[in-house]
Amino acid sequence: QSLPIFSSEEISKHNSKDNGIWVSYKDGVYDITDFVDLHPGGKKLTCEKIMLASGGPIDAFWNMYAVHKTDEVLEILEQYKIGSLSPEDQKPIDLNDPFSKDPFRLPVFRINSKKPFNAEPPIELLTDSYITPNELFYVRNHLPVPEIDPDSHRISVDLGDSSIQLSLEDLKTKFKPVTITTTIQCAGNRRQEMSDFKTKGLSWGPCAIGTARWTGARVRDILLSAGFDPDDKTIKHVHFNGFDDDITNTSYGASIPKQKAMSLDGDVIIAYKMNGVDIPRDHGYPVRAIVPGYVGARNVKWLRQITVGSDESTSHWQMNDYKAFSPSTTFETANYKKAPSIQEMPVISAISVPKPGSIIDPEDGMVEVKGYAWSGGGRDIMRVDVSADGGNTWQEASLTKDDPDADDSAHCWAWTLWTAEVPVAAGKVEIICKAIDSANNCQPEWIGPIWNLRGFLTNAWHRVNVTVEN
Ligand SMILES: *[C@@H]1O[C@H](CO)[C@@H](O)[C@H](O)[C@H]1NC(C)=O
Ligand SMILES: *[C@@H]1O[C@H](CO)[C@@H](O)[C@H](O)[C@H]1NC(C)=O
Repeated sequence: QSLPIFSSEEISKHNSKDNGIWVSYKDGVYDITDFVDLHPGGKKLTCEKIMLASGGPIDAFWNMYAVHKTDEVLEILEQYKIGSLSPEDQKPIDLNDPFSKDPFRLPVFRINSKKPFNAEPPIELLTDSYITPNELFYVRNHLPVPEIDPDSHRISVDLGDSSIQLSLEDLKTKFKPVTITTTIQCAGNRRQEMSDFKTKGLSWGPCAIGTARWTGARVRDILLSAGFDPDDKTIKHVHFNGFDDDITNTSYGASIPKQKAMSLDGDVIIAYKMNGVDIPRDHGYPVRAIVPGYVGARNVKWLRQITVGSDESTSHWQMNDYKAFSPSTTFETANYKKAPSIQEMPVISAISVPKPGSIIDPEDGMVEVKGYAWSGGGRDIMRVDVSADGGNTWQEASLTKDDPDADDSAHCWAWTLWTAEVPVAAGKVEIICKAIDSANNCQPEWIGPIWNLRGFLTNAWHRVNVTVEN
């Protein structure tokens, strides 16, 4: 028997009760409209989450809510099968469009720009698991996603007077593999809050952040094997260059201080695995730099070359981007040459539950609040405080840190998830959170004093308005 074949575009049109709720799982296409009505327990939240998956692949959701991944549930799903997913379901490739070969993404993303693709997962899913599923990890691309042949790809380590070429196989076999759990955050995370006061950049909400386990070779080991002299005082920076895009002829590049790259405790690696599988194309396939505790922008994807120098990278993104300014600096007075590059990240936290605008039915006058907290530079989170009365009283959140690689690292690179029970009064309530890191750094109360025209490093107390029912 042959069921019809559907393209992902067709499936994406069925994402509401009115048009039917379709999802794909592996190569099957399912109409789960009735299933959503019947879902066990009829749990409102579960159905809201299923709705987030509607119109696209449900695989990532299944991985996340592993409870679903039982034979019984798969059998139930089989009853709703209506067809198969077209193997080449992409739109016809437009050779003039450098982005036409970008990979497929889940429709669930909140898209800030399509070309290049920049998107964050919905806040409802962000803190459901300590390790962010690859399919839900925020995507920050500056250029089209290159197609790289892993067999012929070489990473060139150029030290001026010596140079080595490493294949993917070399990277995996010639160096001790290390696995690092780290949170990566875009410098523009939460920019939206500053954008209300006009900034330049993509309007990120609070989800341009995620946590993954990366496996790769230490940059320290690679540089030493290429003959790098760590005592050479003239060298101050290690540069990473990405793959050249053959249509736009541009490549992304960035640099980090030599001390960070060469430190045994710095945990800077060239990764070839993300959460145990090949790095997805959107996240740098086949190899990328991982610079724990630093701004996302230095974790160069599609890595092609490592070099060293007395100065920072001359890349546009090192020189003329990823720099913050005083609140009084204007576009006319901003001096990019003089401003230091953003490297280590400051302490931040955000509320993921409840969502802004939620109507809450409190239990015994209490509401459950959840979120994440993280600090750069390997600093741990010591405490998260939550208030629902404008900061007059604070509840200490209970903290969860499930970093499976914590014992092997001298530093804390991954985020802390937290939950707090907070007393609330009926009516309109602003819920606030703030975190304190292991150096006792705390978040500023308000964005005013940290506002900058680029909208970088928005780490003021996070605020969510909700309505509490009587
Ligand atoms: C790409 O850039 C290189 C180096 O600047 C130049 O030699 C080459 O001609 C450029 N190719 C295209 C297609 O523009
Ligand atoms: C919450 O509501 C108050 C009062 O309307 C408003 O001043 C404040 O800006 C709101 N906060 C957020 C985060 O929307």
